[in-house]
Amino acid sequence: MRILVIHGPNLNLLGKREPEIYGTLSLNDINQALETLGAEFGCSLRFFQSNNEGLLVDEIQQAPENYDAILINPAAYTHTSIALRDSLSAIGLPFVEVHLSNIHRREEFRHHSYLAPLALGQISGFGLDSYLLGLRALFNYIKN
Ligand code: DQA
Repeated sequence: MRILVIHGPNLNLLGKREPEIYGTLSLNDINQALETLGAEFGCSLRFFQSNNEGLLVDEIQQAPENYDAILINPAAYTHTSIALRDSLSAIGLPFVEVHLSNIHRREEFRHHSYLAPLALGQISGFGLDSYLLGLRALFNYIKN
């Protein structure tokens, strides 16, 4: 099983960026923890981070050639990007949306996600565990 892990804008700054909200782990720490869990499941993972909406769309469009599912933290594009939503809708791969922080207890503009209605589910508010729970959920969904 092959899973594409996508991190949206500003997540390259994790560890230094507002640690009281996003924690002190770096993106590399998160990817390593995912890699370890993925190995337990026998999943191979590819990690892609970009601050560029178009590059994220390009990556999603190509995903069906190589991957069975997507784990995505769309970051700020969650709340703004019809383009990301349309690309996920177009390819039709199962995906889980994750957020480190609980977007529903933050500013009003973070409460809405353009992607969530297409996702298998959304996991929000558990830091690293949001990603790990998301990977577990994707794995269990696909293997059935
Ligand atoms: C985030 C939440 C978003 O609202 C924010 O724009 C981010 C990170 C999270 O993981 O908590 O960049 O997706």
